[in-house]
Amino acid sequence: MERTLSIIKPDGVAKNVIGDVIRRFETKGIKIAAMKMLQLTKTQAQGFYAVHKERPFFNSLTDFMTSGPIVVMVLEGEDVIAENRELMGATNFKDAKEGTIRKDYATDIEKNVVHGSDAPETAAFEIKYFFNDLEIQKR
Ligand code: CMP
Repeated sequence: MERTLSIIKPDGVAKNVIGDVIRRFETKGIKIAAMKMLQLTKTQAQGFYAVHKERPFFNSLTDFMTSGPIVVMVLEGEDVIAENRELMGATNFKDAKEGTIRKDYATDIEKNVVHGSDAPETAAFEIKYFFNDLEIQKR
């Protein structure tokens, strides 16, 4: 069993697709082990995306991520990191396959609706960033 962090970004929440994103996870048998809605401060967004701090898009990305509420979830399942990335589609929606979340809803490389951890180490860091142990359901 593996865990990953999923975020429905401010553009996804604004587009009213929270339910559609969650439906796609549940249809695949992915379990939601934790979930909450919140709005990040600039400092919190910078901490979350610290690996990108030298990138030219860092300031714009962290501004965007604080621009409205987000939904953060811990997803659980076999190979869920890869499965979630498959469901999301490529970071750049122009490269995303048909039927993926980003192909259907993203409008921009930055405003790409969802985030998902890319490896077990990043998943562990990202889950801890938003949830303590007591907030994650054990099965
Ligand atoms: P995400 O999966 O959340 O990880 C980093 C984010 O940076 C990415 O999705 C995009 O929203 C954003 N981003 C903005 N510009 C770029 C870029 N040129 N390359 C990659 N990611 C970018």
